[in-house]
Amino acid sequence: MARIATWSAAPGAAPRDARALWIESFRKVRTETERRASSLSAEDQIVQSMADASPVKWHRAHVTWFFEQFLLVPHLPGYEIFDERFPFLFNSYYVAAGPRHARPQRGLITRPNAEDVACYRAHVDAAVERLIEIVPDDAADTVFSILEIGLNHEQQHQELLLTDILHAFAQNPTDPAYDPDFQMPDSAAGPRGFVPVPSGVHAIGHTGDGFCFDNETPRHDVLINDMRIARHLVTNAVWLEFIEAGGYRTPSLWLSDGWTIVQAEGWQAPGYWRETDGAWHAMTLGGSKPVDPNAPVLHVSYYEAEAFARFAGKHLPSEAEWEVAARSAMLADAFGIAWQWTRSAYLPYPGYRAAEGALGEYNGKFMVSQMVLRGSSLATPAGHERVTYRNFFYPPARWQFSGVRLAEFA
Ligand SMILES: [Fe+2]
Repeated sequence: MARIATWSAAPGAAPRDARALWIESFRKVRTETERRASSLSAEDQIVQSMADASPVKWHRAHVTWFFEQFLLVPHLPGYEIFDERFPFLFNSYYVAAGPRHARPQRGLITRPNAEDVACYRAHVDAAVERLIEIVPDDAADTVFSILEIGLNHEQQHQELLLTDILHAFAQNPTDPAYDPDFQMPDSAAGPRGFVPVPSGVHAIGHTGDGFCFDNETPRHDVLINDMRIARHLVTNAVWLEFIEAGGYRTPSLWLSDGWTIVQAEGWQAPGYWRETDGAWHAMTLGGSKPVDPNAPVLHVSYYEAEAFARFAGKHLPSEAEWEVAARSAMLADAFGIAWQWTRSAYLPYPGYRAAEGALGEYNGKFMVSQMVLRGSSLATPAGHERVTYRNFFYPPARWQFSGVRLAEFA
């Protein structure tokens, strides 16, 4: 990681207090992962419903391996790896960290079982807390920087844990509910419509003392032309108009690659939508629910977002336009409901260079062929969102909580 700042709780704290705050932050994040997994049975935790999704048990173990590999092995004297077989099983994509199990076969790993993974987590938890307590002052900045990345990494997997189990449950004809009490977050009230984004040169990218991932830097100037951005997210009601107008059957609305997938996959509606007795239902974390026309559309791919924008006579915002608007508090529901596709390819900011070593693989090597999403979703853990945050997925992906915000030009 090229740029590492300090966990928001820690700046300015005295060294002893800082250690206590790091332990508190560490426990909070680790507990949240277990809370999200707690309603899932051991069977639920094994399943891998597609190559892009990972089993819950794997997520719990992989984030633990991350701390073991990058924090404990290099920095805690005398640390003993919990199980020498685990790095092969739970390394995701870090080539510099050694060989690893094939991603599409993660669901075949019935052992270690969920209980073994709980023991692995406890072993690593104790060691990380020990390291926080004993790390010498002159090594503390390095250790806490890696710890901070590990915490943010685990938060990313907390979101994936939900998106992946939703995909698994959506394959089950009984429509299991991850959380029977799940409610869609309310959309912000207020006038709808488009608001002008101030044109001219603006700086985007991270600044200040808080944490960011390296892909949010360097901060740099961009030119915003005259344009307007939608205050609100696109709703299911207008998406239904797109469906009823034949949007999924009209090739002229689609990018060529998108149209190929529409045909190959038989897409007729957003992901997880099913028509039952003439009414659309959608699989949610609360099980199958009637599609709420007033709620923002979820589980659409970049291809669908782009086709919808064309249908509506609009565009998608660039990530720079989104960031400038969000910084000016012009956007309703910028965070907490749906990641918003932008028309920006996921590319390095000017002058970006990934760090040396395995952690340099975190973001940099994925900067091709994917599109940027901005904001955050209903599955994003509290405190993980940022106005400069760059999420990225391949254009056909729609198992994330991904939605649409439109833009228009003069
Ligand atoms: Fe990871």
